[in-house]
Amino acid sequence: MIENQEKLQYPEKTAVGFAHEIKNPITAVRGLLQLLANPDLPAPKRTLYSEVAIEELDRANQLLNNMVYDNTPLSYQTLETIDIKAAVNKAMLSYEQAIQVKGIQLQANFMSSFKALLPKIQLSQVLVNLLKNAVEACSENGSITITVSKDDNFGIISIKDNGCGISAEALDKLFTPFFTTKKHGTGIGLSICKSIIEEAQGCIKVHSILGEGTEFIVKLPLGY
Ligand SMILES: Nc1ncnc2c1ncn2[C@@H]1O[C@H](COP(=O)(O)OP(=O)(O)OP(=O)(O)O)[C@@H](O)[C@H]1O
Ligand SMILES: [Mg+2]
Repeated sequence: MIENQEKLQYPEKTAVGFAHEIKNPITAVRGLLQLLANPDLPAPKRTLYSEVAIEELDRANQLLNNMVYDNTPLSYQTLETIDIKAAVNKAMLSYEQAIQVKGIQLQANFMSSFKALLPKIQLSQVLVNLLKNAVEACSENGSITITVSKDDNFGIISIKDNGCGISAEALDKLFTPFFTTKKHGTGIGLSICKSIIEEAQGCIKVHSILGEGTEFIVKLPLGY
């Protein structure tokens, strides 16, 4: 494990960070198995959910491998170009069960597509943590919109919900490791997102109105 000083810089590389990140694919697989247990599920959906469940298990395995073998910062890792549309669709599917249970309307708008240049597993971590927060913020029948666009230099992903919103006081501390307002939160999801995104030379911003909703905007350098 890494030294104390680095823990705040790379929260995803601490023991609690790894545990936190492995819980996400486990939760996803559990939800997908619940969907697959429906005997009336059409065959194409059965195939799709099974594929995503396997990918999520692979992701958990990769996270464990990283924990055991590799604490290398992103700048020294092999970078991959990832199709953002495929990554967003996969993150949405991995949360489908929780979304269905809460009756949340989730939609994605692909204004443009782009390739992101970072390890695939890390882009999944960012998308899943932001989507999880949005789902948790929404009440029953809430709505979440993911919009993918780009400007000259950056690919842009916006995740917008009409959930509880964030107080001005909490906004100041949002990305600080272990800051949480949730009864069962650990408060490291956003600090992990920030660490991964900044390591990839991108940035993350938030706009929120208490009681109305929140938008997280992630900018990542274009892969090409
Ligand atoms: N979409 C959102 N709407 C409202 N509040 C949010 C949203 N996303 C994050 N927050 C606030 O930011 C805090 C920190 O989020 P973060 O994801 O880091 O931790 P957490 O969700 O509390 O716990 P966990 O580590 O399990 O993800 C949350 O406790 C919540 O107060
Ligand atoms: Mg969270």
